[in-house]
Amino acid sequence: IKPCNLTGWWKNDLGSKMHVFNVDNNGTFSGEYHTAVSSAKSPIQPSPLVGSQHLDKDEQDTFGFTVNWKKFSDSTAVFVGQCFNGADGKEVLHTSWLLREKVDSETDDWKATRIGRNTFTRMS
Ligand code: BTN
Repeated sequence: IKPCNLTGWWKNDLGSKMHVFNVDNNGTFSGEYHTAVSSAKSPIQPSPLVGSQHLDKDEQDTFGFTVNWKKFSDSTAVFVGQCFNGADGKEVLHTSWLLREKVDSETDDWKATRIGRNTFTRMS
C-alpha cells in the first residue's frame, strides 16, 4: 500500500493551486498556496502554508495546514482534510476550511469567520 503523498501540485474546485514542498519524516510540510479567489482588496499573491500530516500505513491519512495570506490580506485560513483514492483510482483530497477575517472591533467578531469545503486533485 502506498502512503498518501501530499508533495506536489494540487488544484481545487475553485481553481486554486497548492504546491506542497517536501513532507518530512515527522509529517511536517510547507508549501505555497495560489488562491483563485479572494475577499481582499489587494491583488492576490502566492501565500505560504505550513501543515502536518499523519504518516499511517495506508493511503487515507488526515492532515491540516494553515495559510497566512500576509502578502495581500490580513486574513488567515486553516484547512483539515483526508487523502483518498477515488473510484477512478485518482488521488483526491477532501478538505474543510475556516477563513478568519480581521475585523475592526470585538463587536464584529460574530461575522469574522467563514467556513467551506474544497476538493483537490493532483495536477501532475
Ligand atoms: C482573503 O480572502 O482574505 C484571502 C484569500 C482567501 C482564499 C480562500 S481560503 C478558502 C477558499 N479556498 C480557496 O482555495 N480560496 C478560498
